[in-house]
This record gives sequence, structure tokens and C-alpha cells, in this order.
Amino acid sequence: EYFKESKQELKGKTILITAGPTKEIIDPVRYLTNRSSGKMGYALAEEAVKMGAQVILVSGDVGLKIPDQVVHVPIVSAQDMFEAVMKNYKHADIVIKSAAVADYRPKEVFSQKMKKKEGNLVIELERTKDILKELGLKQDKPYLVGFAAETEKVDEYAWGKLERKNADMIVANDVSKEGAGFAGDTNIVTMYKKNHTKRALPLLSKNETAKAILDEVIQEIKKSDQ
Ligand code: CTP
Ligand code: CA
Repeated sequence: EYFKESKQELKGKTILITAGPTKEIIDPVRYLTNRSSGKMGYALAEEAVKMGAQVILVSGDVGLKIPDQVVHVPIVSAQDMFEAVMKNYKHADIVIKSAAVADYRPKEVFSQKMKKKEGNLVIELERTKDILKELGLKQDKPYLVGFAAETEKVDEYAWGKLERKNADMIVANDVSKEGAGFAGDTNIVTMYKKNHTKRALPLLSKNETAKAILDEVIQEIKKSDQ
């Protein structure tokens, strides 16, 4: 019933969403990761389906249920996510990169469990590929939405990322604010757009935030189609 009543504004559109952290393997029992819960990305996937979109969700196992009708592409590392996104973005009208991708990975992956030794341990890390930035360079780039979780200078960093990654929108939040952190069910985000306007949303549930972000994307795409 709900589906019949809703406006289905994303009918005919395919959205690729990345969510959650990546895991960068050190050895068979250890990895590097971050505090992303995946909740924001999964909320986006759920709301996009309700609006009639075809959704491809690229994420690791974050312990959340894959929303009904979503095609899930499982990944572990930043490199896996890069490959999954490059393989699938051509089918997508919109790509939303809510994943917290590791910036570095161990240069060497040990095939056996590392044994402890006397003294300090140094693990050399190398850069991963910037998936959003690579998408921004494509001729056939879909509408690109990036996320930025910051602890300071949110405006400055968000505008910088919009520019540097050639994205159409950056959704930024200050994770040091109460209600905008990683594990919670709420968020407080601001959307930064190409025409140098921004729109701040109040504290909302992650599902309401997702809906508002998708509404904004729909408006922007409509504008550029005119
Ligand atoms: N991102 C990506 N690939 C990476 C790193 C980040 O696609 N290797 C994407 C994220 O999914 C997010 C956006 O880029 O949508 C911004 O990520 P963020 O970590 O905030 O930006 P960085 O450019 O990595 O800068 P920094 O971590 O130094 O703030
Ligand atoms: Ca980063």
C-alpha cells in the first residue's frame, strides 16, 4: 500500500551506494578498520528502494540486514570496494559514497599470524585508491555524492572535497557533535553543492536524513535535466 501511495520519484533510476568501513588485512587474524557502522548507507539503500530505485549496495558485513530488493555486493578491503564500484558504476545514474574507506593499508600482508617480539613494531602503510576521486574523472560519471565525517573545520574540508573529487554533492557531518556520531541512529548533516550553496539539515533519524538527501539529489538532477 505504502509503495502505491509514495511518489516513486526514483523509478527507473539505478543507485549505487557504498556503506560501512573497509577492513585492511594485516595477517590472518588482524586488520585495520574504522568506526563506521554502515547505518547511514543502509538507511539510504532502504529509502531509495521505497522511492522506486534499483539499488546496488557495496559493503562489508556490518551486521545489518540487507534491505529487501537491494542487490548486495560484498567487499572486505578498499581495493575490493574500488573494483566493485568500477564494475558497477556504469549501470548507475547516481553513486552515493557513504562508506568510510581506509586511506592506508599495510604494504605487506602476512600469510601467517605475526608473532610478537621484543620492542616496538612498525607496520608500513601505503595509500589506497581514492574511489570517489577516480569516479569524478570519468567521462560518463553518474551524479556523484560523497560523504565527509569531520571533527573540525567542516565547511572548509567539505568545499575542498567537493572540488578535489569533482563530486556533485558532499554530505558532511561533525562527528564530535552529540547526535551526529558513528554508531547512533541519528545524524546532523549539511549538504554542499556544486553551485556553492549548502543546506543544513537538523538532527534527524538516519532514515529521515537519507530521505532528505535523496530528495535533494532528485531536485538537483531535475534542475540539470532542464
Ligand atoms: N573516499 C573514497 N576512496 C577513498 C577515500 C575516500 O571513495 N580511498 C570517499 C569516501 O567514501 C567519501 C569521500 O571520499 O565519500 C570523502 O572521504 P573522506 O575520508 O572524508 O576524505 P579523504 O579525501 O579521504 O580525506 P581525509 O580522510 O584526509 O579527510
Ligand atoms: Ca579518508
